[in-house]
Amino acid sequence: MKRLKGVSISSIATLCIIIVGWSGPCVVGEDEEISAPMKRTEKEALYSAIQGFVGKWWNGSDLYPDPCGWTPIQGVSCDLFNGFWYATDISIGPIHDNSLTCDKDVKFSSHLVALSHLRSLSFFNCFVSKEHPVTMPINEWEAMAGSLESLEFRSNPGLVGGIPVSFRGFKRLQSLVLMENGLTGEVPQSLGNLTDLKRLSLAGNSFTGGIPASLGGLKQLLILDMSRNSLSGELPASLGILISLLKLDLSSNQLTGSIPEGIGNLKNVTLLDMSNNGLTGGLPESITELIALQELSLSNNPIGGEITNLQWSNLRSITALGLSNTSLSGRIPENIAEIKSLRFLGLNDNTLTGVIPQKLGDLPNISAIYIQGNNLTGELRFPESFYGRLGQRFRAWGNPNLCFSPDSIQAPSNAPSGVKQCARQGIIKYETRIGNSSKHDDHQSSSASSLSLLPPAPGFLFLVVQMYLLDLNIRGPVSIYWARF
Ligand SMILES: *[C@@H]1O[C@H](CO)[C@@H](O)[C@H](O)[C@H]1NC(C)=O
Ligand SMILES: *[C@@H]1O[C@H](CO)[C@@H](O)[C@H](O)[C@H]1NC(C)=O
Ligand SMILES: *[C@@H]1O[C@H](CO)[C@@H](O)[C@H](O)[C@H]1NC(C)=O
Ligand SMILES: *[C@@H]1O[C@H](CO)[C@@H](O)[C@H](O)[C@H]1NC(C)=O
Ligand SMILES: *[C@@H]1O[C@H](CO)[C@@H](O)[C@H](O)[C@H]1NC(C)=O
Ligand SMILES: *[C@@H]1O[C@H](CO)[C@@H](O)[C@H](O)[C@H]1NC(C)=O
Ligand SMILES: *[C@@H]1O[C@H](CO)[C@@H](O)[C@H](O)[C@H]1NC(C)=O
Repeated sequence: MKRLKGVSISSIATLCIIIVGWSGPCVVGEDEEISAPMKRTEKEALYSAIQGFVGKWWNGSDLYPDPCGWTPIQGVSCDLFNGFWYATDISIGPIHDNSLTCDKDVKFSSHLVALSHLRSLSFFNCFVSKEHPVTMPINEWEAMAGSLESLEFRSNPGLVGGIPVSFRGFKRLQSLVLMENGLTGEVPQSLGNLTDLKRLSLAGNSFTGGIPASLGGLKQLLILDMSRNSLSGELPASLGILISLLKLDLSSNQLTGSIPEGIGNLKNVTLLDMSNNGLTGGLPESITELIALQELSLSNNPIGGEITNLQWSNLRSITALGLSNTSLSGRIPENIAEIKSLRFLGLNDNTLTGVIPQKLGDLPNISAIYIQGNNLTGELRFPESFYGRLGQRFRAWGNPNLCFSPDSIQAPSNAPSGVKQCARQGIIKYETRIGNSSKHDDHQSSSASSLSLLPPAPGFLFLVVQMYLLDLNIRGPVSIYWARF
């Protein structure tokens, strides 16, 4: 049972007016008889805790004599336990017009910990002053360890220091969000003991050191976001046991080493972003076992190796594939053009060679193809409508040996930017060189060559993958990946 809603509050107020027969405020005595009681200690702890954040001017007992009843505090929710009200959710920060906002001189009140039934505590845009930075209390958290399920600090640049070790006591914590703050230090090993965690977001701080292998203990984790920090070292193999994960974002750190093969175990993962790191070692074959993937970005890593030999067509739900600036070589495999769901393909700034699969032009929803800055060759023969539709989102410049067929284009404005026209002579040369290539031949020869290059895969594995694919529940939402990729 949540705190009394608007309707019942106003009806209590009306009742109050009728009983008292006077339109002034209800006296506190009346009110206490109407609403369920709240222990004095709980009420005072609530007032003091909030006052610590919003400032001395805020006099809770004056402004909100019945904080869980007819004078609810914006951002505070209560619940009944054994007939008494307790504060269960506190959310501080400018979310609504009348939200509690923080004082310049904000500090953690020691009374916070007396709120023994708190389930959710969140601070948004509260610790903002870098001149008066605030650190989190070290030990005081233990008192609420048994009840807290969600702790969130978001957009608090003035919140500095490390993650207190005492966080390991939050046995019931399901969501720990420490996003866009000024936090530093290493990610504590002990976070791996918070076995109920479903969401762990440490994005946008200045954390250093490695990703603790102990995070493999978070078997229920759905979202792991450590993006935009200064994490270094190799990816722990234990990431591969977080099989519940839906989103894994480690982008914009200084991670090195190779992507563990175990990544292929994350069958439910829909977003995998490791862009902007120092990852090497080639693409793991298992990456195409991530059959639920909708967005994959590994851009801006010196990953190296070949793009050609992977079974990209397994990724049936992928909408955005970002492999820009990853030192990839080889031909763009035809099987990428079998991913019908593809909307964005970023392969720019690699050392890709060979011809561009013409079937990319048939992808129903494709809206951006970036292949500039490679060493692709041959003749672009997409239909004019394709160039017209994609416009500047078809980028093929910076491939010195690439040209487009002038015959296919009526309006010069539709010509692909930065790509030269194939000279008439060039066309003849090209056609004799590539040889007798009707579309059909081309396709056959290239799929034959990619098959012959395939690693020997056991037949049963292939079958299992097929079964997964059949069972796939393809869902709609496509996030805005232009920003991300
Ligand atoms: C709030 O106001 C009351 C009187 O209106 C006063 O007795 C009390 O000390 C004040 N509390 C705080 C914390 O300022
Ligand atoms: C945390 O987990 C490690 C193993 O991952 C275990 O050895 C340790 O005792 C746990 N600590 C607590 C406080 O539960
Ligand atoms: C993966 O998702 C499916 C469907 O939502 C769910 O039934 C299954 O339990 C999930 N697997 C894991 C390991 O969480
Ligand atoms: C390409 O990736 C490397 C890391 O491998 C990075 O240092 C560089 O800035 C990236 N280039 C661009 C243009 O983003
Ligand atoms: C193309 O996009 C539409 C609209 O978002 C969607 O309904 C459809 O399933 C997509 N097609 C494929 C093959 O993914
Ligand atoms: C591009 O490929 C051609 C052969 O097709 C080769 O001669 C040239 O050196 C390559 N350029 C780069 C920058 O790799
Ligand atoms: C391609 O055509 C040329 C002449 O038209 C012929 O000599 C050659 O054998 C053909 N190559 C193939 C692979 O069919």
